[in-house]
Amino acid sequence: MTEKTPQLPYTTNNAGIPVESDEHSLTVGADGPILLQDHYLIEKMAQFNRERVPERVVHAKGSGAYGTFAVTNDVSQFTKADLFQPGRRTDMLARFSTVAGEQGSPDTWRDPRGFALKFYTEQGNYDMVGNNTPVFFVRDPMKFQDFIRSQKRRPDSGLRDHDMQWDFWTLSPESAHMVTWLMGDRGIPKTYRHMNGYSSHTYMWVNAGGERFWVKYRFKTDQGIDFYTQSDADSMAGTDGDVHRRDLFESIERGDHPSWTLYVQVMPFEDAPDYRFNPFDLTKVWPHGDYPEIEVGRMTLNQNPEDFFVHIEQASFEPSNLVPGIGPSPDKMLLGRLFSYPDTHRYRIGPNYAQLPPNRPRHGVNSYAKDGPMRYEPSRTGAVYAPNSYGGPAADTARFGDPAGWATAGEMVHEAYKPHSEDDDWGQAGTMVREVLDDAARDRLVSNISGHLLDGVSAPVLERALQYWRNVDKDLGDRVAKKVNGG
Ligand code: NDP
Ligand code: HEM
Repeated sequence: MTEKTPQLPYTTNNAGIPVESDEHSLTVGADGPILLQDHYLIEKMAQFNRERVPERVVHAKGSGAYGTFAVTNDVSQFTKADLFQPGRRTDMLARFSTVAGEQGSPDTWRDPRGFALKFYTEQGNYDMVGNNTPVFFVRDPMKFQDFIRSQKRRPDSGLRDHDMQWDFWTLSPESAHMVTWLMGDRGIPKTYRHMNGYSSHTYMWVNAGGERFWVKYRFKTDQGIDFYTQSDADSMAGTDGDVHRRDLFESIERGDHPSWTLYVQVMPFEDAPDYRFNPFDLTKVWPHGDYPEIEVGRMTLNQNPEDFFVHIEQASFEPSNLVPGIGPSPDKMLLGRLFSYPDTHRYRIGPNYAQLPPNRPRHGVNSYAKDGPMRYEPSRTGAVYAPNSYGGPAADTARFGDPAGWATAGEMVHEAYKPHSEDDDWGQAGTMVREVLDDAARDRLVSNISGHLLDGVSAPVLERALQYWRNVDKDLGDRVAKKVNGG
């Protein structure tokens, strides 16, 4: 992937100049003081001091690999996106992660897992930055920062704190569906290979005729779903904190290439206003009975990064990387995310992050961007502005001018989504508890929730939490109450 420099049999400094010693600084006599002119020693110390970039503010601990996405079913009636056309194979990069922990945190903490994909399509990079969950904790980007703070460390002790977590969740009832999911079996996957990935958000697809559809993606693991119980996860955190990273790397190394089959749910554009749930609310799924899964293709990871830092730590995923045939939806969370990611990359990596090996488009860039720190690709020569009369690129609106979005009008307000007929915060969570989980999974759910609540949650927050679970399902709430009260 990277341009290789020749491998020399001797050490050089960063300028390629042979060094005189790997082990001894330049001194005045063997026991004498070190000299400032030992530029190689200074280079080593200065380089070392700058080895880290800031870790991601969320999803700091992760692992990744390169692979391919191959289309297996014709969905061209729904999208003209290059990567989803029949017969197409597209190179890609995946990064999986935990959310709240830092770089060194154990892989087996209960947490959602990130499922970030970058497809190097012929029409530019397409990023699908999802999670292993079909829903999320909040539905407005205004609450994301507060939500994350409640999951991270206290300002005074530097400790994580279940009281903060439940305080936020119980004051934000829209979190109930996601918290039910998180406290269930899938809240601690066995490995990154044994979990599904979801777009979670609804996106817009546009076909060659300009027709629009709403879609949700789900990448179902071909390895099968598997999970850790809380106690197995706790002991694994002490035995091998990197178990998921190790598993992914080693399975690819031995040629056991993990794969996922992509399915989409497709909603006709006109169904959205009257659908029983708000189809853009990130705390809701579209039941499969309403919109069945349609197979699209398979992604297979088959190449480990040759350098973790270069290819995985510096990988920069952005939901705003949407290619022709794919657009955003009115999901407010998604619209917020379109700003957030390129912004954080400019801070974390630098303004020319898109030129680095994992982020570089494979099929050409023809932009008017110019200069900036660590610029690697030469800027455009000749006309550096548009429009120009000297042969610079011009937007091909006839070819790529999709409908950019959807019709909208109204007063500017700070308001929640208008509810659809069956929208509430508890219903879909309750369906999962009653109709999807079996008895053994429900028992583990009760045990996981009560164990979490018994770890430092104060009395008023605990009371609210018991009511929260009774709202999801009366029987579940009563069982949790009994357990936390010593029953
Ligand atoms: P279905 O019976 O068609 O789907 C149930 C879904 O639940 C399946 O997609 C399955 O995912 C998933 N599931 C199974 N076990 C668990 C678990 N322990 N934790 C989390 N998810 C699990 O019913 P509906 O589509 O009508 O949905 C019913 C409820 O299922 C929803 O309210 C929602 O809570 C949950 N759900 C729905 C999803 C959807 O997209 N419709 C997706 C995930 C959950 P898989 O097929 O991957 O095994
Ligand atoms: C990472 C912001 C919601 C999935 C990040 C990062 C930021 C961020 C700043 C760090 C990126 C980096 O440094 O490279 C937000 C905001 C959200 C939001 C503002 C809501 C408004 C979500 C949701 C999902 C998600 C809903 C999943 C559906 C991810 C993933 C990563 C990530 C997978 C890690 C990407 C990687 O592997 O590099 N998010 N996020 N985020 N986010 Fe979000």
